Amino acid sequence: MPSREMSLMDGGKLAGLGRPVQVIAVTGGKGGVGKTSVAVNLAAALAPSRRVLLLDGDLGLANVDVFLGLSPRYTLAHVLSGERTLDEILVEAPQGFHIVPAASGAAHLANLDAATHLGLVQAFSALATRLDVLIIDTAAGIAHGVTQFSQAAQQVLVVICDEPASLTDAYALVKVLSRNHGVRRFRVLANMTRTHGMGEELFRRFERVTARFLDVVLDFVGEIPEDDCLRRAVRAQRTVFDLYPSSPAARAFKRLAGRADTWPVPAGPRGNLEFFVERLVQRTPVRLEAVR
Ligand SMILES: Nc1ncnc2c1ncn2[C@@H]1O[C@H](COP(=O)(O)OP(=O)(O)OP(=O)(O)O)[C@@H](O)[C@H]1O
Ligand SMILES: [Mg+2]
Repeated sequence: MPSREMSLMDGGKLAGLGRPVQVIAVTGGKGGVGKTSVAVNLAAALAPSRRVLLLDGDLGLANVDVFLGLSPRYTLAHVLSGERTLDEILVEAPQGFHIVPAASGAAHLANLDAATHLGLVQAFSALATRLDVLIIDTAAGIAHGVTQFSQAAQQVLVVICDEPASLTDAYALVKVLSRNHGVRRFRVLANMTRTHGMGEELFRRFERVTARFLDVVLDFVGEIPEDDCLRRAVRAQRTVFDLYPSSPAARAFKRLAGRADTWPVPAGPRGNLEFFVERLVQRTPVRLEAVR
């Protein structure tokens, strides 16, 4: 059996290198604020125009496959044990994007040590599958798995909702990511809003606290209304686009996708271990004077 390191980097294929990939980590601190709902529906909203890969970053409590009604045969557990490569475990969702499934109930996946977790981030560089956008659905909390996926992404999308614990947990996450992981910029999405404009108000409240204590930049990226159509879609294991394409939630995700499409991909690496860092390095012009 190949060693764990070998299997993670299997192939070392350079074919996928080229255009930079937009990497969006969907996070939020608190459980149940809608991270998986946002990740799945944002992927579906981007899929018609972009090659999207959705990574189930809730490693030990996989949800993405359940949200989409998929039953993957292989998961990240097989990649980590060396039995399969990342390319081999990709599953195509009927909505036109691919997912990297995690395993459910696998405690050893939920508690990966930091080095293995970083190896997983690096393994994406060897993906032969071409893609434009990688979306990561992260777990609740601020464990290192969540912070490592977030710092390795180019965009950190923080989902908040109108509950005190959501704001305190999102604050704790932003604090850890900014102080310990060098993340300065956050995109904030308000979910389950009950009236139009409530999301912006919620964002202002969140921003007031963070601006007082943390050195970060927050961008409000919109709101997703509380919508029973979304709840019904989750129960039916479909996206809200399939079932209710003109529902308020589906339209809000379409707007979010339009905005996400305009987020710039950084011009070069930031010094952290990032997803697809080689593609960022490739884009950085070589400065001869710096080499001398
Ligand atoms: N905009 C919304 N309108 C109505 N219901 C929603 C909305 N967003 C999420 N929900 C519901 O909230 C529940 C929790 O959502 P979800 O599983 O996406 O949260 P999560 O943050 O990923 O949770 P966890 O931290 O456990 O992974 C789901 O059952 C979903 O149907
Ligand atoms: Mg989730």
